[in-house]
Amino acid sequence: MTTNKTFTMIKPEAVAAGHSGKIIDMIIAAGFKINGMKLTQLSKERAGAFYEVHKERPFYGELVAYMSSGPIVAMALEKENAVADFRKLIGATDPSEAADGTIRKKFAKSKAENAVHGSDSDENAAIEIAFHFAAGELVG
Ligand code: RTP
Ligand code: MG
Repeated sequence: MTTNKTFTMIKPEAVAAGHSGKIIDMIIAAGFKINGMKLTQLSKERAGAFYEVHKERPFYGELVAYMSSGPIVAMALEKENAVADFRKLIGATDPSEAADGTIRKKFAKSKAENAVHGSDSDENAAIEIAFHFAAGELVG
């Protein structure tokens, strides 16, 4: 079996609401292996750098303020077809459009405060894992 990697953050409103454990349970139950995990808080500068691809979007300022507003749980994940399967597990960006049983359907408050991040490609997963973890902080 060939596995791929993906990266996720449990976003500030979901950590603050006490949903981290339930979200981690769903990730493990869906077959993902956790290669790295940390509770941390992004500075405005680091949140801005992480979401730099959205710099020109109207919601960028709000997104950076939100993502730096409180602790997040960052995780490096591994599974066959990890990127696509994880995005299926989390559901659509807007929870009102997310399928039943998805993490965002269960836990997201709004399109902006949507509980979790998921990488959108293998290439970005590698960049995002390296952004959050030093080699010695990862297994696998
Ligand atoms: P993510 O990168 O966090 O996994 O989310 P995504 O791929 O589903 O959505 P993306 O288009 O990459 O947007 C990144 C994050 O920006 C916030 N957002 N707010 N207010 C809005 O219209 C709006 N649109 C996007 C969300 O937090 C979204 O996850
Ligand atoms: Mg995205």
